[in-house]
Amino acid sequence: MDKIRIRGGRALNGTIAVGGAKNAALPLMAASILIDGTLTLTNLPHLADIQTLGTLLEQLGVHVSVDGRVARLTASRIVSTTAPYDLVRKMRASVLVLGPLVARERRARVSLPGGCAIGARPIDLHLKGLQAMGAEIELSEGYVEARAPEGLRGAEIIFPFVSVGATENLLMAASLARGETVLKNAAREPEVQDLANCLVAMGAQIEGIGTDRLVVRGVDRLAPATHSILPDRIETGTYAMAAAITGGDIELTGTRLDLLDAAVVSLRGAGVSIEPTARGIRVQRTNAPLVGVDVMTEPYPGFPTDLQAQMMSLLTTAEGASMVTETIFENRFMHVPELRRMGANINLHGASAMVRGVRRLTGAPVMATDLRASVSLVIAGLAAEGETVVNRVYHLDRGYERVEAKLAACGADIERLKEAA
Ligand code: EPZ
Repeated sequence: MDKIRIRGGRALNGTIAVGGAKNAALPLMAASILIDGTLTLTNLPHLADIQTLGTLLEQLGVHVSVDGRVARLTASRIVSTTAPYDLVRKMRASVLVLGPLVARERRARVSLPGGCAIGARPIDLHLKGLQAMGAEIELSEGYVEARAPEGLRGAEIIFPFVSVGATENLLMAASLARGETVLKNAAREPEVQDLANCLVAMGAQIEGIGTDRLVVRGVDRLAPATHSILPDRIETGTYAMAAAITGGDIELTGTRLDLLDAAVVSLRGAGVSIEPTARGIRVQRTNAPLVGVDVMTEPYPGFPTDLQAQMMSLLTTAEGASMVTETIFENRFMHVPELRRMGANINLHGASAMVRGVRRLTGAPVMATDLRASVSLVIAGLAAEGETVVNRVYHLDRGYERVEAKLAACGADIERLKEAA
């Protein structure tokens, strides 16, 4: 398995191009199942998770062709309605084919994902929503079997708490259901909005995009469309935090400040300058010291759970104390013991981590079993004295394209160590 070696202590200076959002691209690719023509997606990120979903879609009968940053997905005929265990286990987002398959084929068989490194992550809200829309759901041999022989019908669905994936699955299903579906307490994440906008371009009738109440009037068929995947706000925030911890000055292009929302407030609170430019965002912390801030993860527009680990790395060297509270996932602190091995002073109390700033981190061999935790260790390594080796780099490759090349181009001393197979 490849590793990443970093010799820390160099300030990042330069420009980094931010790619299309992984978590927008995945549901958008699944939406291709809804039409028998071609869905064209531009600004495609080149990531392991995108390839995994491409493989699953091809097994279902979708023809997937990728040409640079453009993906063309054509689902002329669905040949299978099963998402098998080996792919769902590799990537939970595979469950995003459930809604579109039931909507189009009136049936789907999707492996239950099981728990993962960051928590139990059930899909009960996806299933209850489909049931409310008339699907019969059975669990057998580790698979969810959903059938709607008469087709799906509109329903009122009130989510007890916010779920990005359930909102996306049901939004896709509702687009082809008979009648009106109302999704209340729906997720408002920019990636959900991006999916909704693409569905509208395909002919879906959706009101309330960007709010927590989505009203979908089902149509008989959707049509081919072309859609540009929105910029990756998590990649944006990750590089902003990397620049900030090193006392650097970088421009992030192809992205937007408004996508970061609460993270901007937290970064500014920590002493980081972050401003819009004509091409994206400029992040600087050239003289000012980092200062501790309290951060609590919340559904959008709150501080994103997918930036919690990176923010914690940044706060390890901030003056004073910071309280980092995780409210979305129950087990998303795997980076804490690793950061401690690099000299961070962090105490865990249930869902909160108390971070007391230290003057400096020191390099160490580290690893993590989740992509955001892994990249948080890269961020810590950039600021640490000495050498850090981050193991299990395949987690990084799931969500960050050429992370070492982008950082090296801004002056980081970082390289990938290829392991002979
Ligand atoms: C999406 O996961 C993202 N993944 C995650 O990104 C992100 O962390 C998460 O949203 C929260 O923002 C994709 O978009 C592909 P949820 P998702 O349903 O949809 C519980 C990354 O690093 N829940 O909003 O699976 C669940 O266990 C990743 O890129 C239920 O209990 O997240 C969690 O505690 C990791 N029942 C909470 O809700 C359900 O049926 C929010 O999960 C569904 C969810």
